[in-house]
Amino acid sequence: MDNIISTSQVRDITRLERSGTHSHIKGLGLNEKLEPRSNSQGMVGQLRARKAAGVILKMIQKGKIAGRAILMAGAPGTGKTAIAMAMAQELGDDVPFTSISASEVFSLEMSKTESLTQAFRKSIGVRIKEETDIIEGEVVEVQIDRSVTGVGSKTGKLTLKTTDMETIYDLGQKMIESLNKEKVVAGDVIQIDKSTGRITKLGRSFLRARDFDATGSEVKFVQCPDGELQTRKELVHTVSIHEIDVINSRQQGFLALFSGDTGEIKPEIREQINQKVAEWREEGKATIVPGVLFIDEIHMLDMECFSFLNRALEDNLAPVVIMASNRGIAKIRGTNYKSPHGMPLDLLDRLSIISTEPYSEDEMHEILKIRCIEEEAELTSDAIDILTKIATETSLRYAINLITTSYLVAQKRKSLKVDVADIKRVYSLFLDEKRSVQYVKEFQTEFLYNVADDTSSKMAID
Ligand SMILES: Nc1ncnc2c1ncn2[C@@H]1O[C@H](COP(=O)(O)OP(=O)(O)O)[C@@H](O)[C@H]1O
Ligand SMILES: [Mg+2]
Repeated sequence: MDNIISTSQVRDITRLERSGTHSHIKGLGLNEKLEPRSNSQGMVGQLRARKAAGVILKMIQKGKIAGRAILMAGAPGTGKTAIAMAMAQELGDDVPFTSISASEVFSLEMSKTESLTQAFRKSIGVRIKEETDIIEGEVVEVQIDRSVTGVGSKTGKLTLKTTDMETIYDLGQKMIESLNKEKVVAGDVIQIDKSTGRITKLGRSFLRARDFDATGSEVKFVQCPDGELQTRKELVHTVSIHEIDVINSRQQGFLALFSGDTGEIKPEIREQINQKVAEWREEGKATIVPGVLFIDEIHMLDMECFSFLNRALEDNLAPVVIMASNRGIAKIRGTNYKSPHGMPLDLLDRLSIISTEPYSEDEMHEILKIRCIEEEAELTSDAIDILTKIATETSLRYAINLITTSYLVAQKRKSLKVDVADIKRVYSLFLDEKRSVQYVKEFQTEFLYNVADDTSSKMAID
């Protein structure tokens, strides 16, 4: 396997934007001395845990630690997942961050250890330096000819210029598609990677700035390049070891990356790739970037997985593993042993533990305000107060869930602002956990598969 492929093309998966549970979080909200600001980057309170996370983050960014494991422990809704997501935001594009939930490991398609191995290898980046020929210039004209009958392949011409020269290139089907995909028009400054045909839009040319009077704020203006159109450039890109595994494990392997249907990867292939990467390192062509693997709900793993983790953390290609658990003393899955956080003591012994604490009323108030902005719902200040009250008495999550629902109720009565009455309405429509338990108890005989009284008192997570 001499020609191990490692193209940056495989990274070209578009990310979807939507308002998810943690979409308001933009970072840990620390200042340059790593002191947490009380309310910044979408993060409120939980100061000690955020500072601890910040220290870990600094060490990761300096490449100082790998194979270290951190456990975030705390009650449900205290921001464990939120802090992990904040760390992911701050790591930057170059450092891989993988997030899984422990229960994902139990799949029928591959063994538990295989799926953990894949998660580990997704979290190790390889930064590769490559010299490639690129063409960089300002687009003068894109001309695409369709054949008269409408069938058959399209042909076209692309005119590019620098301040010193201008050239016309013939376009094939593939290039036409990429030009369309990137929506390249005259006046754009683009870069074409000659070996892969990949097109990157660098921005719009300053020379054309006045042609458009209404440009969005996201449009970047750049100078028209000078000198030769074709240059040699050193490109640096980071791919994960898992991506290299997949590309090399099958014919047309990289398609499997898009479908996610990678199957099990043979140990021999991994062995070869480890060797190749080690070679690249020695030749100075690549560096290893240890990233972060976040395993949420870690107590869902069983003994086999835990012992695998013990071993995998000692590998010299190990990422930083961050785990989260909301369990106290709980049974380890599949055994009768009880242990703190539902995980074995020998693994616990390796971990640095960050604990998260319940929020004060003021902090909940702030978090709810941030969520209202994120979900684009306007609430009167009385409504936010009531919602905060609900959060303290039920849970922060429940209160967050009421924001959009109450906004819909407000819209129904043609109001743009949510008021106390709307909150009351949704509060009566949707039960929180306590009222739901109450309800089940009251009507238990009418439910299907109801078990006798003795278990209902033990309904808490165990
Ligand atoms: N310190 C915080 N600042 C802002 N939002 C928070 C904070 N802590 C939690 N949240 C939000 O509250 C909700 C519940 O927190 P989450 O991180 O899911 O809790 P956990 O994982 O500890 O059970 C999420 O929507 C989360 O984004
Ligand atoms: Mg969580």
